[in-house]
Amino acid sequence: MADARDDSRQRYYSMGMSVRRIIIAALATDRTIGHGHGLPWQVPAEYEHFLRTIAGQTVIMGRKSWEIFGADLTSDHNLVVSRTGEVRGATWARSLEQALDTAICFGKTAFIAGGASIYEQALAAQWVDDLYLSIIPGQFEGDAWFPCFPATDWVVVRREEREGYTFVHHRRRR
Ligand SMILES: NC(=O)c1ccc[n+]([C@@H]2O[C@H](COP(=O)([O-])OP(=O)(O)OC[C@H]3O[C@@H](n4cnc5c(N)ncnc54)[C@H](OP(=O)(O)O)[C@@H]3O)[C@@H](O)[C@H]2O)c1
Repeated sequence: MADARDDSRQRYYSMGMSVRRIIIAALATDRTIGHGHGLPWQVPAEYEHFLRTIAGQTVIMGRKSWEIFGADLTSDHNLVVSRTGEVRGATWARSLEQALDTAICFGKTAFIAGGASIYEQALAAQWVDDLYLSIIPGQFEGDAWFPCFPATDWVVVRREEREGYTFVHHRRRR
């Protein structure tokens, strides 16, 4: 049975309302993204790029990543996905889909900023059109990884060598 959220989603979509949805992630060459309670590397220029890119926009994160990075975020709106709802200092979303719906109301670009479980779900459901990936050279000890994604579904529209990382912008093929 449709609930109120389904009705409002339908209303937004029928009005043509939507926002850009972009995955933003830093990953090692072997796709490692995390180790324990943080990043496996220290690449300040990359972290500054992340904070600069999300400034004034909407960020969607899993609850664990919010606990790690939440205090640093420069975004105007933060939507944290959690089943338990134990979220402080951000707007709680009970699912990634609900977070994406809520992001439409804010009208800003929605950056899906991890962690591993959120990247996995967003890619599997084909809920994003762009990937902003920072590739960190080398291999690192880690316990969280960026999901594999079929290269044939994506086209590289920008690639830049930067201080300590390579920035690659992928766009989904239409
Ligand atoms: N390199 C990067 O760019 C980058 C970026 C972000 C994070 N990371 C790394 O990623 C790692 C964390 O990733 P993770 O996968 O362990 O955790 P996560 O994705 O940050 O958070 C997982 C939590 O999100 C909630 N969740 C996930 N899917 C849900 C759904 N469908 N519905 C409702 N709630 C849902 C659950 O919260 P509840 O338990 O509260 O229900 C779950 O425990 C860390 O190592 C971090 O450093 C790296």
